[in-house]
Amino acid sequence: LASNSEVQVALLGAGVVGGGVARILGEKRDAFARLLGRPLTVTGVLVRDADRARAGIEPRLVTTDAARILEDGDVDIIVELLGREQPALDYITQALTAGKYVVTANKDVMARHGSRLLALSRQHDVDLLYEASVASAIPIIAPLKRDMLSNRILSLAAIINGTTNYILTAMSREGADFADALRQAQDLGYAESNPANDVEGEDARFKLAILASLAFRAPVRPDDIYREGITQLAAKDFRYAEEFGYAIKLLALARQVPDGIQARVHPAFLPIGAPLAKVDGVLNAVQVEGDLMGRVNFQGPGAGSLAATSAVVADILDAAQSIIGGRRDVHSEEEAPSKIVPMSELVTRYYIRLTVKDQPGVLAQIARCLGEAQISIASVLQKETNVTARTAELVIMTHEAREASVQSALTAVHALPVVEEIGNFLRVEEP
Ligand code: NDP
Ligand code: HSE
Repeated sequence: LASNSEVQVALLGAGVVGGGVARILGEKRDAFARLLGRPLTVTGVLVRDADRARAGIEPRLVTTDAARILEDGDVDIIVELLGREQPALDYITQALTAGKYVVTANKDVMARHGSRLLALSRQHDVDLLYEASVASAIPIIAPLKRDMLSNRILSLAAIINGTTNYILTAMSREGADFADALRQAQDLGYAESNPANDVEGEDARFKLAILASLAFRAPVRPDDIYREGITQLAAKDFRYAEEFGYAIKLLALARQVPDGIQARVHPAFLPIGAPLAKVDGVLNAVQVEGDLMGRVNFQGPGAGSLAATSAVVADILDAAQSIIGGRRDVHSEEEAPSKIVPMSELVTRYYIRLTVKDQPGVLAQIARCLGEAQISIASVLQKETNVTARTAELVIMTHEAREASVQSALTAVHALPVVEEIGNFLRVEEP
């Protein structure tokens, strides 16, 4: 780059995040120019609908022609904010191959293709930065890449989906309806363009794959991670959780165990006093445990236009400084592949909610199924007897048990004629 020339930035996408990035690059233009010693200028914006007016973006910059941006030799930094896998993956690949720096907030792409794209960026001597792909405003990618390098990371425990945390908080605090809470999260710009990715735990799985690959320096793919979403939770699960002294959160958990790496995303009971249990609304939190630093907690807004913009613009500034000063991002390359330990080997405590016939001897039959699978019951409550249907609800908390044993015991319990329904079962975590 010539010593006095501006740094040229092109945006792919001008939606919730892209719109925020364009706005802030405009509003803070002078401050960023002082910081960098030269202007940072947006020279192109790719969208689907070029006719829509977009606040803070000059219409002459807007295009639906990706080639106009990707083949522009003067563009230094491509900022990908389209979402979803394609065409984002192709555009990022094209930009890196052309020797451009790339900033992205795309967890789908980074979780599935991050390791190949990072290798491509090294090959072309440019950086691929993706801080906003996980937990938006919270700095977590850069600390894992740099500040925690001296550690062997032992575990990650996180709330990394703002939409579901917002929904769960509304359901547990205000007794809100699931669909209403999701609509609010969409209106606030938190949800993915396909919100099923949020509520089914897919977005959190992508993010955990990105974090775990970095933390353990081994490729952890989304498919390696066990996943459950929040759609099976009922209002009564929140009531019982509270009664037992727990909150319900969608957790993303990964840890080094003797045989490899165990990684999972699912709703879980968390003791009400645990730090993650107090992370409410759109807040995210990531707890990282390292052999030297012990447990370190990060917390902050996990979704929304400005929260994501904060991280994207920081990456743009970082890339611009590298372009100007010749400095390169610290790359922590993945080491040998690690064994992924199957979910069936998990050992934890469980909450089980059942609808049963309200008649003598039922509890003994259920206890026998659990006992035969070596599952010890910690407590049982009988709730909400339905006199007309002659059914009762049983809530069971177990001591620690193996996932495989719990699954097979639940199959046996379900087959009992006295059991009408297994309403839900959730893991109890104490990270
Ligand atoms: P939006 O759906 O709000 O915006 C997407 C933008 O990309 C729109 O401007 C859209 O154009 C444009 N676009 C989409 N597909 C194409 C295409 N094929 N060709 C040209 N333009 C296209 O998404 P968000 O801003 O919410 O999310 C962007 C990325 O940021 C995603 O990867 C998301 O996961 C991530 N992210 C989102 C956060 C949030 O809180 N929303 C937080 C952190 C990360 P048009 O405007 O014409 O429709
Ligand atoms: N849909 C995502 C969330 C956006 O709700 O967390 C931030 O990545």
